[in-house]
Amino acid sequence: MLAIEQYTRRLLKDFHPIVAANRPPVDLAPEPADGERFVRGSGGLVTGLSGLAQATGAVWVASVRDGLERELELGNGGEPMMVETTDGSRFQVSWVNPPRLVYDLYYNAIANPLLWFVQHYLWNLAEAPVLDDSTHRAWTEGYRLVNQLFAQQIVREARRGRKRPLVLSHDYHLYLVPRLVRRELPDAVIQHFVHIPWPTPQYWKVLPHYMRDEIMDGLLAADIIGLQTYSDVRNFLLTCEENMGLPVDLRQQTAFYRGRTVWVRRYPISIDVREFERSAASPAVERAEREVLRWRPEQLVYRVDRMDLSKNIIRGFIAYERLLHAHPEWHRRVIFWAMLQKTRQNVPEYREYARQVVQTARFINGRFASGDWQPIRLELRDDMNRAVAGYKQFDVLLVNPIYDGMNLVAKEGITVNRRGGALVLSENAGTHEELGEWAITINPFDVDATAQALHRALLMDPVERHARAEKMRAVVQQNDVARWISAQLQDIRDLVEPLAARQPEVATGDTIAVGREGSI
Ligand code: F6P
Repeated sequence: MLAIEQYTRRLLKDFHPIVAANRPPVDLAPEPADGERFVRGSGGLVTGLSGLAQATGAVWVASVRDGLERELELGNGGEPMMVETTDGSRFQVSWVNPPRLVYDLYYNAIANPLLWFVQHYLWNLAEAPVLDDSTHRAWTEGYRLVNQLFAQQIVREARRGRKRPLVLSHDYHLYLVPRLVRRELPDAVIQHFVHIPWPTPQYWKVLPHYMRDEIMDGLLAADIIGLQTYSDVRNFLLTCEENMGLPVDLRQQTAFYRGRTVWVRRYPISIDVREFERSAASPAVERAEREVLRWRPEQLVYRVDRMDLSKNIIRGFIAYERLLHAHPEWHRRVIFWAMLQKTRQNVPEYREYARQVVQTARFINGRFASGDWQPIRLELRDDMNRAVAGYKQFDVLLVNPIYDGMNLVAKEGITVNRRGGALVLSENAGTHEELGEWAITINPFDVDATAQALHRALLMDPVERHARAEKMRAVVQQNDVARWISAQLQDIRDLVEPLAARQPEVATGDTIAVGREGSI
């Protein structure tokens, strides 16, 4: 990260940067030792943003969530606090502390069961969603209120600094923040990055007018809207055009709203390759790997996921079941290891999904197990060292989401895998735009095609498998998180300092050469 840090600090020397995201960069340590209350947070957003926050020295505005965080009363003083994690990372966190019920409406009634669902096309529309007055209440008394609290905190942070505020707000939890901040800080540079897919304008129409119009009005107060893929950029612009009646320029990737031009750009998020490789070589991961080597079979199919409906875990199991049925030659020679973590258990759909995932795995094991061979090894745990051990050891990595913004599991897995493993990849994962050429592409809904893809991956000639793995690794190495950050900062600089007025700038380090791609 050193080169990117120097580059970032130079680019941002005239700004006071503030990052805002629902999740903080840290989690409470499961077994806190003296003075070590925090570990590095998990999840794609935190992975990408930690680099950005550290590189820019930005304050990170985040929400106090449930459980222990509340008991610690982190949000009390309103002053940012310096948090050090067990791995030595340091973050300045400024907490927003909404009342528990308000947070519940925002997170468990709007953000996850509505916005997440609409953006991943998760509904069976004949049955769901059923919207009513309670939805409207959750919107006004939950989602809108928490966004207001975030905006107030951001404005407070901005006013502490003497430079021009640069607000980097993130994801579907905070769609109203750009407008609320713009009202208070008309000169701020605001970029909002959406980590999850942007669906078609038609699908947005499942949501009521008041909600989708306020979302668009909120977002379009930003100067730049960042998305993961070309398809997201296109869908966003079409949503502006069709649902809002706005003029847009698909070639220039701009929308025009209330007399302002808004840039809509693609920045595919990634991982810190060097840091990830370092962690893969750590004693803790090697210990975990030795344990895996004690039981790993001839061929290991692997997946790591939160038990999210968008991840399509059940169809993945069904595809594997079909593989075992059609190809008994794989019995006892292959294990499908699924490392899954429970998530969002306050949302009924997630609880039910977790139940069905476990039930499906049990059913398949009941059908095919023989002797000491269990075809599926299901582990419900959140253990990064063990997950990385699995990354190093897989022969086939299954990444079959229904829709996914990017999917960093695919990038992490191919970066540290030691066996030239194959990637079976959904065409609807954002990362397919970068890795699809060398992965084995699947339609995630077609379980027979997925079974055939698994078979093909297991049988693939090792030379071809290694060559494909190498190609994919090279793509991730080139498009790593430093590039994600520098591409955004470059655009911010282009926005505030048009080309003609700019002093020539020499970038240091080869990780930060940025190619601007304009076609969607
Ligand atoms: O981008 C979607 C995202 O915010 C990811 O960063 C992360 O993996 C996931 O959703 C986390 O969701 P939650 O914070 O609800 O656990």
